[in-house]
Amino acid sequence: MNPGWSDRDEAVAAELASLARSERYKRPIALAGFMGVGKSTLGPLLAEVLERPLYDTDSYVERIAGRPVHTFFPNEELEFRRLEAKAVAELVGRGPSVIALGGGALLDKQSRTTLRNRSLLVHLHVPWRELRGDVPALVASRPLLQGRTLAEIHELYLIRLDTYRHAALRITVGRQGAALAAADVLRALRSLEGPQLPPGDAPVSRTAVVLKALAHSRSSNEMDMSL
Ligand code: S3P
Repeated sequence: MNPGWSDRDEAVAAELASLARSERYKRPIALAGFMGVGKSTLGPLLAEVLERPLYDTDSYVERIAGRPVHTFFPNEELEFRRLEAKAVAELVGRGPSVIALGGGALLDKQSRTTLRNRSLLVHLHVPWRELRGDVPALVASRPLLQGRTLAEIHELYLIRLDTYRHAALRITVGRQGAALAAADVLRALRSLEGPQLPPGDAPVSRTAVVLKALAHSRSSNEMDMSL
């Protein structure tokens, strides 16, 4: 049993795992969101439940570049973005998986289009009022944030937020932690439209999918509609 999951979450997870195994749901699930929202914690959980490989764009970049992500900042961000876009293009083509995206991966227009068209793009959202408390810890571990003031980091957050609007689903990750957020993502997946649906599920509009996902999530954690 995963920590923090109810019996219902487990049941949803089991259902999703069988759905994924049946290969009806083929798109990669791509996790977007600001640094520190929990993509790297949630990604492995989802990958485990869905029995899919887990990919990470930062790790991919490090592998092809042969050096750590932090060495690209502050002077070689453009090169980092080029390699990050390459990572997205390559990883999306590998079949069903869970992909943890770097926080800035959606800055690239081509990556946004690719992810919108070929993955299920999920925005893991932490409202600024919650994230701001974690900023000192984030600054210590994220090269991109070093030397920036709180106001500058907030500005960066807002720029990023604008790119995350391209996601088909938004899940608010509250203080409840990654396991419950993973359960929210799994519940949302159950509501998906399109050819991946198991027979018998009525197709619904994208808006309805999002609303349904939000409603499901609201039952277990707070959803922030105002951003
Ligand atoms: C970045 C986020 C980082 C990493 C790089 C740049 C960003 O990934 O890709 O430091 O621009 O937001 P995480 O979101 O996994 O920390």
